[in-house]
Amino acid sequence: MINPEQPIGIFDSGIGGLTVANAVLKELPNENLIYFGDTAHLPYGDKSADTIRFFSKTIGEFFLFKDCKVIIIACNTASAVAYELLCELSGNKAIVINVIDPVVDYTIESKFKKVGIIGTQGTINSGIYPKKIKEKNPDVEVCSLATPLLVPMIESGFVTGQISELVLENYLNDPILSDIDSLVLGCTHYPLVKKEVEAYYLKHNRKVEVMATNEIVGRYVKNLMESKNLLRKKKGGKHLFYVSDYTASFANTTKLFYGEAVNLVHLKITPR
Ligand code: DGL
Repeated sequence: MINPEQPIGIFDSGIGGLTVANAVLKELPNENLIYFGDTAHLPYGDKSADTIRFFSKTIGEFFLFKDCKVIIIACNTASAVAYELLCELSGNKAIVINVIDPVVDYTIESKFKKVGIIGTQGTINSGIYPKKIKEKNPDVEVCSLATPLLVPMIESGFVTGQISELVLENYLNDPILSDIDSLVLGCTHYPLVKKEVEAYYLKHNRKVEVMATNEIVGRYVKNLMESKNLLRKKKGGKHLFYVSDYTASFANTTKLFYGEAVNLVHLKITPR
């Protein structure tokens, strides 16, 4: 039996999943959260599906050991290739949530006509967004573009300024993304440059809804947990942060997110 007092486990390769963690905590401030940033293996985006599955399984086992009631795969790349595996691993011990299904549902509900997807090479190669959107509504046009420079750019702190502007401009200018009415930020790192993406469309006089994918997932998690009576009743939650490699950028960003220094626990994942 899952108990509402148990924590929520949430993971990503690095800081991207913090955008999701933040959105979840905004909706559910009383939850205890365990965050795992697999910084030793960042980026996930250019790794093979088998490797991502191995890392995800190891982190999933850690969350089950920590008695998590919910495991959120706060990474599109891992959601695309390891969701079924983690569901199998968790059985009835924990509910597994990926970050793709809530966004696909939102896209359908919003009745967009031509949806652009940007994401890592792994997510785009998996073809998971077009497949899931088309399954729900074959009339929606979907076009996808891998934007592999964005994760290293964001992890290195280039969020505003000329460099990120130039990189974004290059990607968003791609003819593949012409005529879209909406854009999925299909990597959990990308909400960190959402304002810059919106500025690009404003500058070019284009009306494109840039989806706040992390907030969509936050609302989805709240509704799901409410419907399953899994919300923690006690006030105020405690949050633990684990990383597989201690990096200054991760320490700085967690600090930016939480307004205070966060105690990062270094936990090694055994390599194959
Ligand atoms: N933030 C992750 C995603 O949503 C992974 C990025 C990466 O490590 O390449 O895909």
